[in-house]
Amino acid sequence: MPSSRRVVASKSTNAVRNVKGTLLLKVNPKKPEIEKIQVAAKVIEKGGLVAFPTETVYGLGADALNAKAVKKIFTAKQRPLDNPIIVHVANKEDVYKLAKKVPATAEKLMSRFWPGPLTLILKRSEFVPDITVVGLDTIAIRMPRNKVALALIKESGTPIAAPSANLAGKPSPTEAEHVINDLAGRIDAVLDAGPTKIGVESTVVDMTASPPLVLRPGGTSYEKLKSVLGNVQLHQAAATKRRGRVLEARSPGMKHRHYAPNAQMTIVEGESDRVVRRIQELAHLYMVEGKKVGILATDETSPNYKADVVKSLGSRNNMKAIAHNLFKTLREFDKEGVEVIIAEGIPPKGLGLAIMNRLRRAADLDAMQAS
Ligand code: TXA
Ligand code: MG
Repeated sequence: MPSSRRVVASKSTNAVRNVKGTLLLKVNPKKPEIEKIQVAAKVIEKGGLVAFPTETVYGLGADALNAKAVKKIFTAKQRPLDNPIIVHVANKEDVYKLAKKVPATAEKLMSRFWPGPLTLILKRSEFVPDITVVGLDTIAIRMPRNKVALALIKESGTPIAAPSANLAGKPSPTEAEHVINDLAGRIDAVLDAGPTKIGVESTVVDMTASPPLVLRPGGTSYEKLKSVLGNVQLHQAAATKRRGRVLEARSPGMKHRHYAPNAQMTIVEGESDRVVRRIQELAHLYMVEGKKVGILATDETSPNYKADVVKSLGSRNNMKAIAHNLFKTLREFDKEGVEVIIAEGIPPKGLGLAIMNRLRRAADLDAMQAS
């Protein structure tokens, strides 16, 4: 049918764009076009940088075994050189090349949760360049549950080192547009397969600790890990009620400020009616001071607020929606020039633990209890 062919043709003209020297390739998330994956894989093979979707957030990939290529990740993101990078694999055999020891507990998690939003910290092998793991004796590995990511890794023929594809300290990108906003002109290519499914990053578990230790809550819930492992602990930075100070920064990423919008951010936690009252009082105080105030609310509460900008993350009964919308919404507040964000706390259960962890780390101040 000519009309539908015309639609396809007009879509494809926009399928490849060049933004400040960064190649933007639109791909079908369900059936990634092999020609486009091959273009991106060539970039990886040649030591370049490609941003690609995973089920959690977009990653900024380089050949994990090429020290020069990995160095470029740190430069492009302005990432501190003490923060190691997760290595992404498309098959389990690669884990045995990258890691020296793979305990039975890790194998159990791999068979239960991979591909999926779970990163395992293992003892590294000599095969891995120092810069990928910033000289540590451990390595973080995961297998993403995303067709584009898996096709890229396979086609590149190498494990891919990839942190989230944002400028260091900014909210992680859940859409290609976020990557372009932060990194256009600084990286070679972006594979755009639309918004990512989960919206918060993978759960990071240190399998060299006994019992295994969750360093970062994420897309695989603590409760699920517990049901498989029996014994697993939450690092205080992942568990604490308040952001506080991290005494022992076991995961180097813990000590850096993260996910931060430009605005100053405060979280109010507690029983719902009190939270609403306290947030409205705070919003009023800031507005009287002449500040542009944004409230990060939920569907159940957002009609109750008056502020310059009120945004809902979704229903409190749908943690998946809240996770999915979180980083995008933080970026929207910035776009609208909000100076102060006041956010509602979320019950830290299931995905809620990952959501609260990101909110706390985005906030300047400790969370406050509404009274
Ligand atoms: O979902 C995700 O994990 C995304 C996608 C792209 O895969 N990646 C991601 O990477 O969030 P990044 O670099 O933004 O966060 C990786 C975290 C950091 O906190 C880092 O410190 C920690 O994992 N990490 C990496 N290697 C480690 C290691 N050997 N020991 C302890 N922590 C490690
Ligand atoms: Mg990150």
